[in-house]
Amino acid sequence: MNENYQFKHRHIFGIEQMSSEDIQFILQTAASFKEISNRPIKKVPTLRGKTIINLFYEPSTRTRLSFEIAGKRLSADTFNISASTSSAQKGETLIDTVRNMQAMNPDIIVMRHSSSGAPNLIANKINASIINAGDGAHEHPSQGLLDMMTVLEKKQRLDGLKIAIIGDITHSRVARSDILGFTRMGSEVYLAGPATFIPPGIEKMGAKVCNSVAEAVTDADVVMALRIQKERQNDPLIPSLREYAIRYGINNRLLGLAKDDVVVMHPGPINRGVELNPDVADGKRSVILDQVTNGVAVRMALLYLVMGGEKGSEG
Ligand code: CP
Repeated sequence: MNENYQFKHRHIFGIEQMSSEDIQFILQTAASFKEISNRPIKKVPTLRGKTIINLFYEPSTRTRLSFEIAGKRLSADTFNISASTSSAQKGETLIDTVRNMQAMNPDIIVMRHSSSGAPNLIANKINASIINAGDGAHEHPSQGLLDMMTVLEKKQRLDGLKIAIIGDITHSRVARSDILGFTRMGSEVYLAGPATFIPPGIEKMGAKVCNSVAEAVTDADVVMALRIQKERQNDPLIPSLREYAIRYGINNRLLGLAKDDVVVMHPGPINRGVELNPDVADGKRSVILDQVTNGVAVRMALLYLVMGGEKGSEG
């Protein structure tokens, strides 16, 4: 890495805005934070006195919890707001909601929203740093980073790999962040799925579209299955989940086409028996729970870096 490199992002909107050096630096920072989660006292004073609001307009288990854990492990004060229990239910607009939050002077707002670009919209209205925790089908940058961290740990590199992503690419913000991230780091991303799940023009992002799952998986270093996002489909785009599982579900027979040391990933939540056979999801090649573990470290790194990256005594 260039010795004059400096991390300059005050907001995290997407992988699109990140250089390969930014990604490398975030992953290095995350790796340095990871051991904190294995200490008997899982807390350092790095962000003491900082206020973080997790503002989630869509359901989440992994992202919301790991941002909260990450903030708490850095000693920040963390608060969670879900749209379902907020005044959004009474008709308050997003802009009014965040202006009211700004009146309470938070340092970071971590935001998930169904509309692409919502984090960018609010960043212009308030002083807090904004971290995108998933916006519509646009980007999910912290997921892309934790995926790259997991692959780096398992393969000791991020260049020259074949990454196969299978499933609902059309509605997947994870796919977009992963395509941008892995190609920026020098790997090749191959996509496969039903034609209705492959958005026209996706090749412009640098991915290759395959005619079959077998073609995508052959000689792959990484096979990632994506969840079918029924909540983003007005009409069903596949005939049935049963047919999808037969044609596109990842099983051990398909994995036999990949490299011997292939790893299987999924951002979660899994539709068991649809995108992944249970024996694959729970099998020896699965690194799905490693992804979750790394999610805490990556989110600690992002919270720390958007606050200027000045480490206090880490204990
Ligand atoms: N991977 C992911 O974003 O999971 P959640 O929806 O549970 O946060």
